[in-house]
Amino acid sequence: MRMQKSLCLFLIMYIPILLNAQTKKDESLLLGCGLGDNGGKDSDGRQWNPDNKYLSGGNSITSKASFQDPSLLSEIPYMSARVFTSESTYKFPILPNKRYWLRLHFYPSVYNNLNPSDSYFSVTANGVALLNNFSSSITCQALSQAYLDREYSLAPLNSNVLNLTFKPSDKHNGAFAFINGIQLIQMPDLLLDSPSLVGYDDQTMDAKNLHFQTMFRLNVGGQFISPVQDSGLSRTWYDDTPYLYGASTGITNQAAKDVKIDYQTMPQYIAPHDVYSTSRSMGNNKDVNMGYNLTWMFQVDPNSMYLTRLHFCDYFYSKVNEIVFNVFVNNQTAQTGADVIGWTGSKGVPTYKDYVIYVQDQAGDDQLWLALHPSPDSKPEYYDAILNGVEIFKLNDTDLSGPNPQPSDMMIEHDNQEKTFQNKKNGHNKSFVIGGAAGGAAGFAIVAAICVAVHHRKKRAPGSYTNTTSSWLPLYGNSHTTGTKSTGSGKSTMGSGANLAMAQGLCRYFSLQEMKQATKNFDESNVIGVGGFGKVYKGVIDNGVKVAIKRSNPQSEQGVNEFQTEIEMLSKLRHKHLVSLIGFCEEDEEMCLVYDYMAHGTMREHLYKGNKPIDTLSWKQRLEICIGAARGLHYLHTGAKYTIIHRDVKTTNILLDENFVAKVSDFGLSKTGPNMNQGHVSTVVKGSFGYLDPEYFRRQQLTEKSDVYSFGVVLFEALCSRPALNPSLQKEQVSLADWALLNKRKGKLEDIIDPNLKGKINPESLNKFADTAEKCLSDHGLDRPSMNDLLWNLEFALNLQENPDGSTHKNTSHLNESEFEEVNLSHNNEMAAHYKNLSLGSEHDLSHHDSTENSAAIFSQIVNPKGR
Ligand SMILES: *[C@@H]1O[C@H](CO)[C@@H](O)[C@H](O)[C@H]1NC(C)=O
Ligand SMILES: *[C@@H]1O[C@H](CO)[C@@H](O)[C@H](O)[C@H]1NC(C)=O
Ligand SMILES: *[C@@H]1O[C@H](CO)[C@@H](O)[C@H](O)[C@H]1NC(C)=O
Ligand SMILES: *[C@@H]1O[C@H](CO)[C@@H](O)[C@H](O)[C@H]1NC(C)=O
Ligand SMILES: *[C@@H]1O[C@H](CO)[C@@H](O)[C@H](O)[C@H]1NC(C)=O
Ligand SMILES: *[C@@H]1O[C@H](CO)[C@@H](O)[C@H](O)[C@H]1NC(C)=O
Ligand SMILES: *[C@@H]1O[C@H](CO)[C@@H](O)[C@H](O)[C@H]1NC(C)=O
Ligand SMILES: *[C@@H]1O[C@H](CO)[C@@H](O)[C@H](O)[C@H]1NC(C)=O
Ligand SMILES: *[C@@H]1O[C@H](CO)[C@@H](O)[C@H](O)[C@H]1NC(C)=O
Ligand SMILES: *[C@@H]1O[C@H](CO)[C@@H](O)[C@H](O)[C@H]1NC(C)=O
Ligand SMILES: *[C@@H]1O[C@H](CO)[C@@H](O)[C@H](O)[C@H]1NC(C)=O
Repeated sequence: MRMQKSLCLFLIMYIPILLNAQTKKDESLLLGCGLGDNGGKDSDGRQWNPDNKYLSGGNSITSKASFQDPSLLSEIPYMSARVFTSESTYKFPILPNKRYWLRLHFYPSVYNNLNPSDSYFSVTANGVALLNNFSSSITCQALSQAYLDREYSLAPLNSNVLNLTFKPSDKHNGAFAFINGIQLIQMPDLLLDSPSLVGYDDQTMDAKNLHFQTMFRLNVGGQFISPVQDSGLSRTWYDDTPYLYGASTGITNQAAKDVKIDYQTMPQYIAPHDVYSTSRSMGNNKDVNMGYNLTWMFQVDPNSMYLTRLHFCDYFYSKVNEIVFNVFVNNQTAQTGADVIGWTGSKGVPTYKDYVIYVQDQAGDDQLWLALHPSPDSKPEYYDAILNGVEIFKLNDTDLSGPNPQPSDMMIEHDNQEKTFQNKKNGHNKSFVIGGAAGGAAGFAIVAAICVAVHHRKKRAPGSYTNTTSSWLPLYGNSHTTGTKSTGSGKSTMGSGANLAMAQGLCRYFSLQEMKQATKNFDESNVIGVGGFGKVYKGVIDNGVKVAIKRSNPQSEQGVNEFQTEIEMLSKLRHKHLVSLIGFCEEDEEMCLVYDYMAHGTMREHLYKGNKPIDTLSWKQRLEICIGAARGLHYLHTGAKYTIIHRDVKTTNILLDENFVAKVSDFGLSKTGPNMNQGHVSTVVKGSFGYLDPEYFRRQQLTEKSDVYSFGVVLFEALCSRPALNPSLQKEQVSLADWALLNKRKGKLEDIIDPNLKGKINPESLNKFADTAEKCLSDHGLDRPSMNDLLWNLEFALNLQENPDGSTHKNTSHLNESEFEEVNLSHNNEMAAHYKNLSLGSEHDLSHHDSTENSAAIFSQIVNPKGR
């Protein structure tokens, strides 16, 4: 009855609109732009409806995307679009006094032969500028993502209609606008109290009439939360690790199963249970905690107001004054004496605090820092700090738009190469490669791209010795820098890790003079690659030992951190099948890393050039290389007591020495990675396009089986001698993983193997190999073999090739332990023991986030063998 009545009222109020727009009574609109009459469901099962009913005026067409990027989580709404060639407006019925979520989804692809790089447009909502001169393809490219989701919270508009206007830019010839999906959802009031203004004592701010753009939304110390797992507002929450700054990143905690999150009077929609049941804290060593700030850094647009919302819930301590800390936002005190139990009254009760700050224009580096530090003034029982969630919103009353990010030169160059190559190859100009790669699930951190652009150039994978094949993508969104600032223990700028490594004789120090001698004063003729850090030179030391010398770009500040990370990581992990670091040099602001020289470059360059197979490796050699690489990975996964996940297994990261012994490279970067200032691009997906584990995409949970998946692609690459991804081919052939599986299942694998191998592979060996590779590509990590099983199978395949007459198979897979150069990790175990005392009913935290100087940096990304 009641419902009927309100519906009736509703009808009266909105008749004019309802005539051409059959609004649902819950007033939430999910529109798949350009979808047919029946709409469709996304991968979460949500129904998206067609958009045409709401459209008024302007010229628009509907179109399907020309190419489905594998990183798209769902075909709907991204694969269909509405394309506008002139100003056009959607009219949505709204309630005049309510706040609304507006979410816009963009997937830059070729629509109707229109190149997305020609798309520049503005979007306004009742006069409020949301986007201006917006290029989704530039933004995606800079972020290394395939698609973008933007979220706005519109203050009450005092109107019954929301005019959402798309206008192609008149500054660019042939500019057009497009949109793939629109969500409009009436939202409850999230601003229950007025936020306090940082830097102005006791002043609050009235943000009720301001429009918001969501910049970041993080489940601190926890995992990705998808819209359907949110507490009713279909928000996406990302992992916070990419935004952590500094070497000390605290530890993560998870509420024990029996702890109930008690919302009391706080509405549950403020944040879901999963946000409050995980947290990050500093660790339980008072001295360590007093010596650092638990810090996150966010890239934002300058000259803007930002609301930072912090979510807290303590489910471990239960008394007032047990943990008291201060909160700093942009180095200003936002909160003194934060005491979560003091605020909430008891454990398991969540709360949140809002702080508003104005970020000024500071010559390029526009950052918002958030830092927590124990508050000794309060004399708390424990010197610690805790945080469960963060949301950062940009606020404005009229204009939320920001500039397009600037993709780095290297990305542009790569794109051009990719494009010219395609043009030459197939003479078809239609297919457009998004950045040549795609990150996938995007954050809101659009502006993060700016920092990528700035710092990107400095970053390239270690050991990428060729100009065209290296892994330069900024996909390692993590941030575990090893700076000495926060730990205060290192003397040299290279950090304590380097000192330690040297003290332990794991690493050698070179003078600059030695470096110059080795490279003929860094002569250009010795350049064998250009890396993100700078150039990689071939060199000779000690009268004849060949080395690869990576020289940091002298202007690069970030280089310091990256170098430290790499020294620490590489000097600790030694294995025949991992590329090894010989030493480093630091003098006169010059920094160099010295590696073993890999005479034969990357595995990839021995398989194909461009898209053409090259006949240099026999089947046996290929098997041996695969086995070597598998051993290296096996060591990473199991050899170091803790699982280290490589995250970027691919044929350009497998290097070959003069005897074609395979060595895995790049693991330093992908673990402790480039620091905060650069890499925090995609909060979720790290790795390379074409090799990415689909399960990792779906669930955002990284396990060593993600490496196994990528390795499966490597195996097929070795067999077929073609790139993991070749966008110039027909759709079903673009992805090697898909194409190989399809053929394998049809029993037609022979059709696609490298012609140079035809007739040269023993059929049983081929079968064993292909079965193994297929298993690696299983959808579910659980169905994939472990690296050890894999190794066994590959060796079996090698055996079958060498002894085709069925001679007895020797089980060779028992790993020869003496092959490992064991590294003393007991220091780390001590750390683990410390944290055991603090671990809140959850084991998995232990090794994940050590927080003191040396081991922290090294093991910060190492996860417990049991996985998460
Ligand atoms: C929406 O657009 C129509 C014209 O298309 C205009 O008459 C109306 O005032 C606009 N509404 C708002 C709130 O801007
Ligand atoms: C809103 O945006 C405009 C244009 O970018 C800017 O000049 C103004 O300072 C912003 N206002 C606030 C409150 O941030
Ligand atoms: C905050 O302090 C850090 C160093 O402690 C500095 O690098 C950074 O630029 C400062 N940020 C702002 C916004 O002042
Ligand atoms: C923590 O951050 C605050 C604000 O930027 C700064 O004043 C303080 O020195 C920092 N403390 C440490 C130990 O880095
Ligand atoms: C629009 O954006 C592009 C790319 O960021 C930039 O080159 C151009 O100058 C911008 N145009 C205007 C009018 O702001
Ligand atoms: C591809 O583009 C180039 C220049 O951009 C043009 O010369 C060529 O004709 C195009 N080829 C096709 C098949 O459209
Ligand atoms: C790498 O690039 C540099 C300059 O761009 C070039 O001189 C050099 O020959 C290239 N090296 C290889 C191996 O292609
Ligand atoms: C070989 O060893 C592996 C692991 O050690 C074991 O799983 C496998 O069953 C063995 N195979 C044979 C044929 O003995
Ligand atoms: C293990 O490897 C070492 C060196 O690679 C070799 O000398 C030794 O004989 C091997 N042991 C076994 C049991 O295979
Ligand atoms: C490892 O280090 C601990 C303490 O640092 C030391 O007692 C132990 O002997 C070392 N073990 C090895 C094998 O070097
Ligand atoms: C952990 O706690 C136990 C008892 O509470 C204590 O005996 C032990 O020393 C602590 N370990 C560390 C490493 O702090």
